[in-house]
Amino acid sequence: MADANPFQDPLRFERRLPPCAVVIFGANGDLAQRKLLPALYRLAFERRIPPGFAILGNSRTEMSDEQFRDKMRDAVARFLEDSPFEQALWDDFARGLYYVAGDLSDPGLYQRMAGRLETIAAERKTGGNVLYYLSTQPSHYGPVIEGLGSAGLQKAPDEGSWRRIVIEKPFGHNLTTAFELDRCVHKVFDESQVYRIDHYLGKETVQNILAFRFGNGIFEPLWNRRYINHVQITAAESIGVGSRGGYYQEAGALRDMIQNHLLQVMATVAMEPSAVFEPNAVRDERAKLLRSIRIMKPQEIELNAVPGQYGPGRIGGEDAKGFRQEKGVDPEAQTDTYSAVTFFVDNWRWAGVPFYIRSGKRMPKRVTDIAIQFNTAPLSLFPSEVSSRPNQLILRIQPEEGISLRFVSKQPGGGMRMRPVSMDFNYGSSFGVRTPTAYETLLLDVIMGDSTLYTRQDMVEASWRVVQPILDYWAERKFDLPNYAAGSWGPKASDEMLARRGHVWRIP
Ligand code: BG6
Repeated sequence: MADANPFQDPLRFERRLPPCAVVIFGANGDLAQRKLLPALYRLAFERRIPPGFAILGNSRTEMSDEQFRDKMRDAVARFLEDSPFEQALWDDFARGLYYVAGDLSDPGLYQRMAGRLETIAAERKTGGNVLYYLSTQPSHYGPVIEGLGSAGLQKAPDEGSWRRIVIEKPFGHNLTTAFELDRCVHKVFDESQVYRIDHYLGKETVQNILAFRFGNGIFEPLWNRRYINHVQITAAESIGVGSRGGYYQEAGALRDMIQNHLLQVMATVAMEPSAVFEPNAVRDERAKLLRSIRIMKPQEIELNAVPGQYGPGRIGGEDAKGFRQEKGVDPEAQTDTYSAVTFFVDNWRWAGVPFYIRSGKRMPKRVTDIAIQFNTAPLSLFPSEVSSRPNQLILRIQPEEGISLRFVSKQPGGGMRMRPVSMDFNYGSSFGVRTPTAYETLLLDVIMGDSTLYTRQDMVEASWRVVQPILDYWAERKFDLPNYAAGSWGPKASDEMLARRGHVWRIP
């Protein structure tokens, strides 16, 4: 079925999903249990899930459908955020949960899956629509895609039904493997069936950047190099690597957060308005922006990219281990658990404006925000030093979602004494409704056939082209790590990187 333009449908968020079966590869894993099942249950809670809906879980562990249902019940009850767990609703939802065990490299698995999908289609009336969700280790993506292809499972049984596949990040470990993965996907699936998920694009507040910029008349005229001095994007996490030491040691912050999530956020902040609000038009603009980011030469990397790694420290009054002491981590690991990079966008709107991006684990608190710093007034009329402070617009992505504009104001009383103040918009208190999680939004979108908030291969490749030279440059060096204490705001070298241009990191 050709994908309709979902934006022509103003009621799409009120509409129920079309019938379908969701096959989750890696159903026993962390992502499925923490994010996917709670999101799907939550959609059921909102009465968006149609009766013709089923989930077919897969992992290697032998389990009956009943055991799978029990396991998923525990996960949903545990990880459901800010919604009640209703037993009666769960019982109804759980009747559509099925399970098939099997090794992903065994062709027999896909034959069994085909059989189960047929029975499920007849039992649950899913209309032959199937969404495959790759939530396994990335090394399994190839075998699963080939397995689906060899059993013909990528083909919809008739004209009116569809087959789609969601691929979780990382899309490759580097630029070369990103190409390889893409070739493998396209041997089996047509691009219109492929949804590459970057859950940051599903965050309500990231989507709101577009509404803020293009739904209002007053900001866009200022949104360029004439008025904006620089932009800071921060994604700080207070958690360490937890049980993911093995994966993270090979990934690092630049790969794990900046190559995908934060470059997508930057693209959303900096892209041009699209001519129409349609999936491919919006994605074209994001892609164009990513392609305009300057690719750095080694001498530029030295000055514009800083790796960090946390050593032991204290967070929230408690002792925290250093990264090298975490489970599964090599005591000599050179991994960046913090990365800060200065990017430049070589286009007419942004030439010369630094975009400072940083992300780190074991920072003092969890916060993601974007600070747009404007130029100062050309001349200060008032004696106070405060009056020459630049205006800042802060877009708070999480956890306290909102937007603030910082400016200076006269203090009441005699004289012209100034103080910084702020105008605040807060999502929670302004709308008084719960914000859907990124996974709810993105699952709803893919089932509706809306790819606007999914990334495209050209974006994936453009982001790799930007970070690959930095990764290569870092791989050839040995840094003196750890270089920041757990619970601090990162290495000194990162402050120095901004200081060279006369800037300082905001404390969020
Ligand atoms: C994931 C990274 O993609 O995003 C994790 O692999 C990180 O390391 C997570 O913790 C952050 O997501 P969020 O939504 O909690 O900001």
